[in-house]
Amino acid sequence: MVIQPKVRGFICTTAHPDGCARNVEEQIRYVQSKPRIDGPKNALVIGASTGFGLSTRIAAAFGAGAGTLGIFFERPAEGGRTATAGWYNTAAFTRAARRAGLYAGNINGDAFSDAIKEQAIETIRRDLGKVDLVVYSLAAPRRTDPRTGEVHASVLKPIGRPYTGKTVDVSSGRVTEVTLEPATDEEIRGTVAVMGGEDWRMWMEALLRAGVLAEGAVTVAYSYVGPEVTRPIYRDGTIGRAKDDLERTARDIDGALRPIGGCAYVSVNKALVTQASSAIPIVPLYISLLFRVMKDKGLHEGTIEQMHRLLAERLYTGSAVPVDELGRIRIDDLEMRDDVQREVAALWERVNTDNLALLSDIEGYRADFLKLFGFGLEGVDYEADTDPFVPLEG
Ligand code: NAI
Repeated sequence: MVIQPKVRGFICTTAHPDGCARNVEEQIRYVQSKPRIDGPKNALVIGASTGFGLSTRIAAAFGAGAGTLGIFFERPAEGGRTATAGWYNTAAFTRAARRAGLYAGNINGDAFSDAIKEQAIETIRRDLGKVDLVVYSLAAPRRTDPRTGEVHASVLKPIGRPYTGKTVDVSSGRVTEVTLEPATDEEIRGTVAVMGGEDWRMWMEALLRAGVLAEGAVTVAYSYVGPEVTRPIYRDGTIGRAKDDLERTARDIDGALRPIGGCAYVSVNKALVTQASSAIPIVPLYISLLFRVMKDKGLHEGTIEQMHRLLAERLYTGSAVPVDELGRIRIDDLEMRDDVQREVAALWERVNTDNLALLSDIEGYRADFLKLFGFGLEGVDYEADTDPFVPLEG
């Protein structure tokens, strides 16, 4: 079939296998152009198929020569429907890793469940022995609690009072004011249950109990802080509560890993276009302005540059891991630079529908969004008949 993008709001319902493969190859080439990282030997990546998780997997495999076991929740092609982007990304990654002689194992299923945790442990035992890096990079709308069977839902809302702020409809380029109603206590609880640290803790306890963590194993999960303009919806909102919980959990896990000489970190990453971030109101407008300022200053990074830097310049330098006063790794340092934030704040005041194209990098945002689904990549023939049925080996 000829595969074209079908965008519905903040989701694209099609994905292009060759474009996704190209995207993965570009990330691999970036990592290969850098000096080798004296990094992990075997990594378990939970949320490995898109966004930051995929880039961490690529950086660990092609930057450090690590074997990787990836966990994700993706859908294969069926009938007239393409597979999801994460399916195609993982198929391309797996082919490339195996060609390079690197172990690449995959488990497609619900990472929140006990069954997938057990399957991961069995796979590590069978194929790797132990892992020395565990990356926790899930972004999900829902989580079924494995103990109670309760289904928790994550929402993106402010807390305490309504918040009115500027937002952009990415496809039309219309800048409007949106008012977001505050979350209920139940919604706050649900968001913390899905995006907080509980499941990360369950993973680490299960791995530790099973004896599949190597001496000195490191685990890292991802967080975000961001600027004043997104604070009511992000850091002071429901998702921020979940991130507070995640950051607290890092300290508990760190304590639990002491007996094996291990450490747990949270890395605060840069705001980037991913399937998860495009669903948050207000954030896409901020990202469009941020990209303009960071590109003008030559500071822009994508997920692969960020994850390469996390491994090469933070986690595996051979000396102590640099952290902020709250114990977090910061690779949002360039985003949060004073000059960058001052310029973004000034643009934020002025931006409207008429000057959006001039003041922001909305085009870059749109291009990155389409790229997530394998569209708009150079060297891919989008008019060609393409087979959407791509096998994905375990
Ligand atoms: P993403 O949507 O690109 O990736 C999410 C991953 O989780 C995918 O591999 C998906 O298959 C997997 N997944 C979702 N539900 C699952 C389930 N039930 N079982 C197994 N796998 C499942 O998201 P992104 O943006 O890379 O987010 C990863 C982390 O990074 C999140 O914690 C997010 O808050 C954080 N982060 C994101 C930033 C951004 O701007 N995108 C900035 C800073 C942190």
